[in-house]
Amino acid sequence: MERLRVGLIGWGTVGSALGGLIAGGPLPVELVRIAVREPARERASGLPEGVDIGPVEAITRADDLDAVVELVGGMDGPRAWAQAVLGRGLPFVTANKALLATHGAELAVLAGGTPGAALLASASVGGGAPMLEVVEHLAATGAITRLRGLLNATTTFILSSMAQGSSYDEALSAAQRAGYAEADPSFDVEGRDAAQKLAILASVAWGRFRPEREVETHGIVGISLEPGRIVRLVAEADGEDLRVKPMELLPGVAFASATGVESVLEIEVRDAGSFRIRGPGAGGRATAGAVYADLARLVAGERPILFSPRGR
Ligand SMILES: NC(=O)c1ccc[n+]([C@@H]2O[C@H](COP(=O)([O-])OP(=O)(O)OC[C@H]3O[C@@H](n4cnc5c(N)ncnc54)[C@H](OP(=O)(O)O)[C@@H]3O)[C@@H](O)[C@H]2O)c1
Repeated sequence: MERLRVGLIGWGTVGSALGGLIAGGPLPVELVRIAVREPARERASGLPEGVDIGPVEAITRADDLDAVVELVGGMDGPRAWAQAVLGRGLPFVTANKALLATHGAELAVLAGGTPGAALLASASVGGGAPMLEVVEHLAATGAITRLRGLLNATTTFILSSMAQGSSYDEALSAAQRAGYAEADPSFDVEGRDAAQKLAILASVAWGRFRPEREVETHGIVGISLEPGRIVRLVAEADGEDLRVKPMELLPGVAFASATGVESVLEIEVRDAGSFRIRGPGAGGRATAGAVYADLARLVAGERPILFSPRGR
């Protein structure tokens, strides 16, 4: 393949950062089409010139593309777009954890049964930190025994502020002012963001699709804790049980020192010890880097399917 012709759905925080990487990066990738919700809207990163801007259907039906990237979020639209793209035998690259933690098995079956299709989602977990790649690599031996990590920056920020003496409400407001929490923070503070990421990691680690609904999830809403206590929203899985819940950590344990946007994942492997990945778990540039790394795999001729379609 001379160059990978890409259609990009979404030109927001991550999509526009990916556009910058494609324009300035080393890969033979060409951005051919973009779809957004409101093409005329003023945006910080203007839409590039010389690229076809149109509705999503102009991408899902186009015959001049080698791959489609979805950087929108949400469920019904992205599910239908993924079905259309995979069903035509094209790779689908996404950062959409909700989509994968719900409909991942169905999409993997479709990708697996359609020559040319592929499903890649490095950016759906860990932002720029290559968690899925490392789990995929270590999973090859079938010897991963445990995953444990801090997968949600909003709750890490809130719990760190509370250890300094803030109340839950004060810490949440500070997180919102700092851009770590959405105006509606429920998805993060109820633990669902971490649960979806854990479901995806566990599906890859143990080769069997685990949807979000199988994760026992406890959030941090209204939590109270004494100053000086180190509590974090810990996501952990042992191959059978998947759990997200606030846990007290002793000072000095592996990820007690993570305080802000960092995500951390510890992977235990039988007879090989434990591996730790730590890095920026969100942010446009870091997350776009993970999407760009997925495009590099496509350029190299790989056609990976994120997880085995086997469900329960
Ligand atoms: N931001 C992060 O740090 C981060 C980290 C990890 C993963 N992610 C994931 O990356 C994805 C994108 O996040 P983001 O922060 O970049 O979102 P965002 O800034 O809100 O951008 C969303 C983009 O999608 C477009 N869009 C929305 N509905 C659409 C529709 N029906 N048809 C076509 N385009 C539509 C919007 O169009 P308009 O521009 O016209 O509004 C916008 O360009 C999400 O799945 C998110 O969970 C984000």
